Amino acid sequence: MCGIVGYVGSAASSSVSGAAGGRVALDVLLEGLRRLEYRGYDSAGVATMSQGQLSVRKKAGKLSNVLAEIQADPMVPGVVGIGHTRWATHGGPTDVNAHPHLDAAGKLAVIHNGIIENFSSLRARLVAEGVVFESQTDTEVAAKLLGRVFETSAGGDLTEAMRQVVNQLEGAFTLLAVHVDQPDRVVAARRNSPLVVGLGDGENFLGSDVSAFIDFTRDAVELEQDQIVTITADEVAIIGFDGVAAQGRQFYVDWDASAAEKGGFATFMEKEIHDQPKAVEDTLLGRTDESGRLQLDELRIPVAELKAVSKIIVIACGTAAYAGMVAKYAIEHWCRIPVEVELAHEFRYRDPIIDDTTLIVSVSQSGETMDTLMAVRYAKEQGARTVSICNTNGSTIPRESDAVLYTHAGPEIAVASTKAFLAQITAAYLLGLYLAQLRGQMFTEQIRDILADLHKIPQKITEILAGAEQVKSLARSMKDSPSVLFLGRHVGYPVALEGALKLKELAYIHAEGFAAGELKHGPIALIEEGQPVFVVVPSPHGRHSLHSKVVSNIQEVRARGAKTITVAEAGDDDVREYSEEVFFVPETPPMLMPLLATVPLQIFACTLASEKGYDVDQPRNLAKSVTVE
Ligand code: F6R
Repeated sequence: MCGIVGYVGSAASSSVSGAAGGRVALDVLLEGLRRLEYRGYDSAGVATMSQGQLSVRKKAGKLSNVLAEIQADPMVPGVVGIGHTRWATHGGPTDVNAHPHLDAAGKLAVIHNGIIENFSSLRARLVAEGVVFESQTDTEVAAKLLGRVFETSAGGDLTEAMRQVVNQLEGAFTLLAVHVDQPDRVVAARRNSPLVVGLGDGENFLGSDVSAFIDFTRDAVELEQDQIVTITADEVAIIGFDGVAAQGRQFYVDWDASAAEKGGFATFMEKEIHDQPKAVEDTLLGRTDESGRLQLDELRIPVAELKAVSKIIVIACGTAAYAGMVAKYAIEHWCRIPVEVELAHEFRYRDPIIDDTTLIVSVSQSGETMDTLMAVRYAKEQGARTVSICNTNGSTIPRESDAVLYTHAGPEIAVASTKAFLAQITAAYLLGLYLAQLRGQMFTEQIRDILADLHKIPQKITEILAGAEQVKSLARSMKDSPSVLFLGRHVGYPVALEGALKLKELAYIHAEGFAAGELKHGPIALIEEGQPVFVVVPSPHGRHSLHSKVVSNIQEVRARGAKTITVAEAGDDDVREYSEEVFFVPETPPMLMPLLATVPLQIFACTLASEKGYDVDQPRNLAKSVTVE
């Protein structure tokens, strides 16, 4: 999510800016941050070191704000340094919360990507020991702890201090640290977050991805899970969290700079589809306490009020509204609270019935969609409590809501939403389970089982992505289809709507999604010879024999000449007989199925649109954030 860059050059030749090994650290860091700018962020900062001097500048907002700060108040150009662009998770996007963060002595600086799950207990321990914190971030906890360990048990060795600290941390993190007492090095560690070393001649680099240093070197080493690396100008030394010498994966970067930003994919959309395992994983991260109970710290609405909620209205637009439809099925089933889902632009013009026991849940990737914002404001005026499910920290909708549940999908750059959708559904499940826990509607074991199934979803998405060639080749063969229909039922219905929307948006093909049961009430008249129909088939293990009902729907359209393409659960061999093509997705509880069944439909739309030569990242007529009503 955050962008990270680190650099160590050769002190001897540092006066010759531009010579290999003798670059000015500040220049390298700012260029790296500029390259990482595509990720989008809300604050940036750098720390440089030279001759025992540590210099830090950081600012909320764009990189240009830090540049202005450096111009106004020049800093040490340095031969060693670290730089960061922040995508806020813990603590809003302010100057104080921007990275780097310092230890108590002001001798050590740290930058961080990820979420330290146990930061509140570590922080409480440090506060009890007299440590004073400036920010609300989890990162500052790592900085303060690292400074303390460096001076005590690590005996002034930054690598050993890092090793001792990471063994106390839980969650996902890439950490980079510099210390004035060891001015020739940057020490970094990674768990569940990316970190790549760039190998230079008399200089070495670190980056959250290769785009951070692609202008300077193409020889790289990707760190493995749970490894620590120490870079100096001439050496790269890797150890495991256990202290044993280790190795990363060496590779050569043959992408151009723009492909590097896309992680080697041709488009941001493909990258973001592949980011989905991480988006779901990060959205789940840090939301259970040590006993496995859900703990949604950000949901700062008094428990008594949450218990008194008599009705939930989900408001959102487009893809986010389809995530809201999944939320309705899950929350009603788990919490027994009535849930309405409403397009935000319709909501406030229909005189909705709202009182102080109504909970409004807005869903928005950007947090800036004007229709959704106006609906939230209207609901607040009517006395409702408002919770925002949002991907953009510090954006307007969460700021104006009573509480927020952030999705941690990272910046979504392609205009059409993919990873934010899966993250929104994940957050909606968490909200539903949390309300069920609070209101005593489910047993602790039931909630724990569903959470365990949710934690298996990232691996299952990875499996679907690994088998993507089947859906891609179908998409390429269907590029001239004038119209495609999508059917689904229960939570498969919003998936069908999303599949159709993706195809409309990206490939400009007429596409419609229907509730499969609605077919016979009209839409079946559209079926003629050769009409492609995607069917999202419910699990055969689900309740209400929906599976057999949907299989009947498949037969009905086939009898009228449709070409049926099904997305079904692995092992559901019944559907083969009725499908021209079947995409199997791994087994999961029926309620969680949208997190898997959506993925082949995204890949289908993206591939088909690319085959037609369209720009999938910026489809015609669309804007990423719709800030007009
Ligand atoms: C579709 C898409 C849009 C957005 C909608 C809401 O791919 O991206 O339908 O979902 O405009 O945007 P946010 O979530 O930013 O409020």
